[in-house]
Amino acid sequence: MRLISGIFCLALFACFLSFNACKETPFQQGKILYENFCANCHMDDGSGLEGLIPPLAQADYYRDHVIESACLIRYGMEGPLEVNGRTYNQPMPGTDKLTEFEITNILNYINEAWYDDLPYVKLEDVRAMLKSCKED
Ligand code: HEC
Repeated sequence: MRLISGIFCLALFACFLSFNACKETPFQQGKILYENFCANCHMDDGSGLEGLIPPLAQADYYRDHVIESACLIRYGMEGPLEVNGRTYNQPMPGTDKLTEFEITNILNYINEAWYDDLPYVKLEDVRAMLKSCKED
């Protein structure tokens, strides 16, 4: 009896581990990419830099433009922008080093780390968005 329940526990534990592994991997990749490509400016905790770089954590602008952010990650942006009632006006450089899959993982990392209620970002949506903002 003990043995059986022992095996059962072990099986449950293994399920639990593999379930988490699936969920954690893209999230982990998104975190590492965020740290390499975004944290320099937006900071590790997404708080930005007072008056110069807008926050990504709890930012009204980001909340309303999750998928559109794929375009600004790839192509950058400039011009004045209001985030949480403050105006920012510094150019953000784009990068062509991130694939659409990596951009999706970064967005999902941001959503999971700093928002409770944003839906999971799908690769197809990011792909379609990137097509629509492609530079000619
Ligand atoms: C060199 C500094 C720099 C880097 C690196 C950078 N950003 Fe930005 N980001 C900015 C600046 C500056 C703005 C404001 C642009 C403006 O005023 O037009 C901005 C704006 C944004 C915005 C829109 C405003 C907001 O806060 O919601 C998002 C979303 C964003 N960045 C995401 C990212 C992500 C994701 C990465 C990494 C892939 C990244 N940025 C890398 C400097 C940077």
